[in-house]
Amino acid sequence: MRPLTPVRIPGDGMVVLMGASGSGKSTFAARHFGPTDVLSSDALRGLVAGDESDQSATEDAFELLRLALRMRLARGRLTVVDATNVQRWARRLLLDAARREGRPAIAVVLDLPLALCLERNELRLVHRLPAAAIRRQHRWLVESLPMLAAEGFARVELLRSPDEVERAAVALI
Ligand code: CTP
Ligand code: MG
Repeated sequence: MRPLTPVRIPGDGMVVLMGASGSGKSTFAARHFGPTDVLSSDALRGLVAGDESDQSATEDAFELLRLALRMRLARGRLTVVDATNVQRWARRLLLDAARREGRPAIAVVLDLPLALCLERNELRLVHRLPAAAIRRQHRWLVESLPMLAAEGFARVELLRSPDEVERAAVALI
């Protein structure tokens, strides 16, 4: 039996999940963290607009996300950000919040094959995106990887296959 993939996370930190749509961010968050520890851009779109895929609510959703993130980090509460986070500007806003609160930022990257993300997307009944959007997200993710440490993440935990994701074991440090 192969060993577990340790994912080391400071108990007062910010965990930034990263991955294209369909990479399994929300599944990962639900499996490894408590429901109130996760701030999801989709859930917050649903909160303000009644529809998780209403793109017109994106700005409001991210404003709420950053507000809740700052409040939680100020209290030293572990906080997981469940959004694609494949664009640098999106990560920058999160990293700024963590830095202001003096909390470490950890990237947990679901770097799975594009084909798998596309396949899962096709099987989805809700939140199915155009394939071109997923291709673009995947490209942005790949381009982002070499820059993450310099952007300010204290650790970058890379999960590079469904098997590594399956065997991930979160360890609070
Ligand atoms: N899925 C799967 N096996 C996994 C993880 C996810 O079959 N190990 C499926 C889920 O059931 C879901 C789809 O793949 O139908 C996408 O998973 P999800 O966790 O929702 O992916 P996200 O990265 O959160 O996608 P999004 O950015 O669109 O929220
Ligand atoms: Mg999701």
